[in-house]
Amino acid sequence: MNANDADTRPAALVLGGRTGLLGMALCAALEAAGWRAEATARPEAGDFDLLRLAGLVRDCGARTVFNTWAHTQVDKAEDEPDEARRLNAVLPEIVGRACARAGAGLVHFSTDFVFGGKADTPRDEDDPPAPESVYGRTKLEGERALLALDPPGLLIVRTAWLFGPGKKNFVRTMLDLCRRNNCVSVVHDQVGSPTFTPDLARYTLALVDKGAQGLFHVVNSGEASWCELASEALRMAGVPCAVAPVTSAEYPQRAKRPAYSALSTARFTRATGLTPRPWVQAVRDYVLREVAPEA
Ligand SMILES: NC(=O)c1ccc[n+]([C@@H]2O[C@H](COP(=O)([O-])OP(=O)(O)OC[C@H]3O[C@@H](n4cnc5c(N)ncnc54)[C@H](OP(=O)(O)O)[C@@H]3O)[C@@H](O)[C@H]2O)c1
Repeated sequence: MNANDADTRPAALVLGGRTGLLGMALCAALEAAGWRAEATARPEAGDFDLLRLAGLVRDCGARTVFNTWAHTQVDKAEDEPDEARRLNAVLPEIVGRACARAGAGLVHFSTDFVFGGKADTPRDEDDPPAPESVYGRTKLEGERALLALDPPGLLIVRTAWLFGPGKKNFVRTMLDLCRRNNCVSVVHDQVGSPTFTPDLARYTLALVDKGAQGLFHVVNSGEASWCELASEALRMAGVPCAVAPVTSAEYPQRAKRPAYSALSTARFTRATGLTPRPWVQAVRDYVLREVAPEA
């Protein structure tokens, strides 16, 4: 584009878009959909300053802000609950106030880890949350703070089990591990909704296009255990490594994870007319296009 040409594309600010797993996918999807996407790295001290943050939103002319900033290390959060709360609960409310002040809509992301207890059918948006970890509790606190603030154009997208290009994730880690070992143990008694970040980014933009507001679950279709997800990725990549199913009790982790947190996307489908594609297809795309060629 010529420097004198005005850029008439709608502008978006993606908080965490420079380095975040989902943020990078959002930037790519926004550019592909004809938006101008500006991105930040992880939050700095000044980003907790409402006026400075509102200035940042205003300066880039953002119509919509996508907030992917979060404390996402689920186990580490158990040992630093204050820091987790600062990023997952306090910061979203500041972002919400900044967006309202700057006249921008806000798309905020949350997690299936707000759920806990027993279930065997996909959770919908009205199911009562019962988080079992610091991460889940602080993310729920962030959702509730934003819903109470109710800034204009607020959309909260709960998602789950992300994998995709550009940053470490479960699928990538499994493939790396299995190339160096003959057998890996993977938990089979936690079931959720594996989700490909480029799909999530496109589906989120579909909600934005429809002017959707409020709380939505957005994930790929179907459900899997970590063991099934790893097995499928290895099969696609043709890596000859055995996967040994183990229980959560046999693989203790610092933070408790939900036993079943698959999400229902019925509300998303009603709003957009779209049905998310199955996670197996998405894993195939990711492994064949992104991971295998890099090996
Ligand atoms: N990943 C998943 O499986 C998953 C599942 C459900 C929901 N979500 C939600 O989806 C959103 C995006 O997740 P993501 O996986 O894309 O996140 P991510 O890549 O781990 O991080 C997103 C942003 O937050 C920053 N960040 C992460 N941990 C931080 C910390 N301890 N201190 C300071 N900054 C930190 C990152 O900075 P750096 O790039 O410098 O690390 C990046 O800017 C979040 O709201 C998350 O809660 C994720």
